[in-house]
Formats: sequence, structure tokens, C-alpha cells
Amino acid sequence: TACASSSSPGGSGGDDVITVGFAQTGSESGWRSANTESIKEAFSAENGFDLIFNAADNKPEAQIAAVRSFINQGVDAIVLAPIVSDGWDDVLKEAKDAGIPVILEDRTVSASEDLYASWIGLDFEQEGKTAGEWVAENFGSKPTNMVILEGTTGSSAATDRQTGFDAAVAGTDITVLDSQTGNFTRAEGKTVMEGFLQKFGSEINVLFAHNDDMGLGALDAIKAAGMKPGTDIQIVTIDAVKDGMTALANGEFNFIVECNPLLGEKTAEVVKSVVAGESVDKTYIVEDQSFTQEQAKEVLDSRPY
Ligand code: AHR
Repeated sequence: TACASSSSPGGSGGDDVITVGFAQTGSESGWRSANTESIKEAFSAENGFDLIFNAADNKPEAQIAAVRSFINQGVDAIVLAPIVSDGWDDVLKEAKDAGIPVILEDRTVSASEDLYASWIGLDFEQEGKTAGEWVAENFGSKPTNMVILEGTTGSSAATDRQTGFDAAVAGTDITVLDSQTGNFTRAEGKTVMEGFLQKFGSEINVLFAHNDDMGLGALDAIKAAGMKPGTDIQIVTIDAVKDGMTALANGEFNFIVECNPLLGEKTAEVVKSVVAGESVDKTYIVEDQSFTQEQAKEVLDSRPY
């Protein structure tokens, strides 16, 4: 009988198991842990997959090398959560030439759309816009000083969030005192916020952090400086992982825009279709919500991650 992996061009075996190489960014955040878990659960042996997992520790060259190694191993499909958008053309062409479909999840690439089969992700620009709209509504009509903790430079998550945010606060009375990357980690969020506090102290009214983890690191820095997070400095973040939502419910964060990490099931479904030669959409966007402090209190116990 015909079977999925032997009928796929990059097929590595003669059984029904689909071998998938997954190139994850790293393990920088709570969001990332939830995303990795979601992928591993969906790509289980029980569901007909053999998953080869690689996390590149947020080093773009290591991630390209991982994808190249998946090609050399002759996997049936590659799932890629690209650290940065640029630099993918060559290795994606190599995958295409080897007949191995690449499915993007989470972030996108700047390479031509013909070089990947599908993208399952989030509307990062809308996430930034929703965060910016909250800031504009609450601070837009009074002189306000803001600092920004950006995600990994060159990642579609950081670029698109900032684009959406900037559009939403354009024309308001908000001044950006400083904006630097904290690479989506708690540790760097803390260090960069310490620098902001040394430079600007109590002049800072609002912090926009591109993810919860950097906001949580900043929260520690703010407390250590003798200020009250959520009151002296209001904090807006993106992700809505458990620790972030707890800070929001406790009044230490002020607003969170969700970024849904549970992309595994949809990604596995798309990979199965692609390997079976069925047509799929180029883009699947997963819905996000947003939360105020009151809403966080209501939903905190029922959050799955
Ligand atoms: O690409 C999604 C972003 O990457 C999440 O917001 C962040 O927490 C993660 O590391």
C-alpha cells in the first residue's frame, strides 16, 4: 500500500511514519516553552510522527545549520520557527531542490513565498497595534515618557509588533525616551531596564515590552529601584503566559496582549496535508485576545500555559 512518507519526495522511510525536523529558536521565554510543548505533543509517535527537535539557542547561523542537517538526513518535512526574518534564501532553496517541504510556524521569513509551503502564526502587527491603542487611550492626551524593550532584532515578532505599536501611538503626546533590545529574555529585560532607570529614573511613566518575560525582568528592576511597577511605571506587554497574567492580576502589569503559543495541532495538520500532496493555504493566522487587570483575575486559573 502507498504510504505518506514513501510517496513524499524527501521521504526517508518505507513506513507510514512522517519524519519531521523541527528547528526551534531556543528557549528564551515562557511562551517558547509552551510552544515547544505544543509542537512536541502534536508531533508525537502516536500521531504518526518521528520528530527530530533542534533548538538553536537564538543563534541564526546555528538554526540555518540545523535546517541544512535536516535536509541531509532526508526528513519528510521541516518545521521552522525562524529566529530572524533574513538570510533564509539559500537554505530554503536547498530544501526545495531536495523536495523537502518547509512549513513555517510562529515567525516569518523575508524570503520568497515559493520557498515554503505554509506559515502558521500570529498577527504580530495587530498585537503591537492593540498594545499601542491601550497606551494611546490611557496616556495619549497627556505628556508621557515611555521606554521600550524590544524583542530579538530582526525577528518578525519584534519588527511587526513595533510597526503596529508605532502606528497606534502616532500623533499622541508620548515621548520615547529609549528603546533597546532585551532579546525576549527575562535576564536581559532586567539589565536593560536597570540602565533605563539609571538614565531616566522617575521620569519614566510607561514601559512597553515586546514580551512578558522582558516585562517580568523589568518589574524586578523597578522594584529594586524602590518604585512600584503597575503604579509608578505602567507596564504593557505581549504573550499572556502564566507569570505575566499573574503579574497583571496582581496589579504589577497594566495590560497584556495575548500571543497564542499553541500552534502544534494546526501545524501538524498542515504538515500531514503537505506531505500527502494536498493543497494548503499559504497563511494560517491564530487568533489572539487581550487582557486588562480585571480580566486577568477572571481567567487566570483557567489559562492552559
Ligand atoms: O515569536 C513569538 C515571540 O517569541 C514571543 O512573544 C516571545 O515570548 C518569544 O520568545
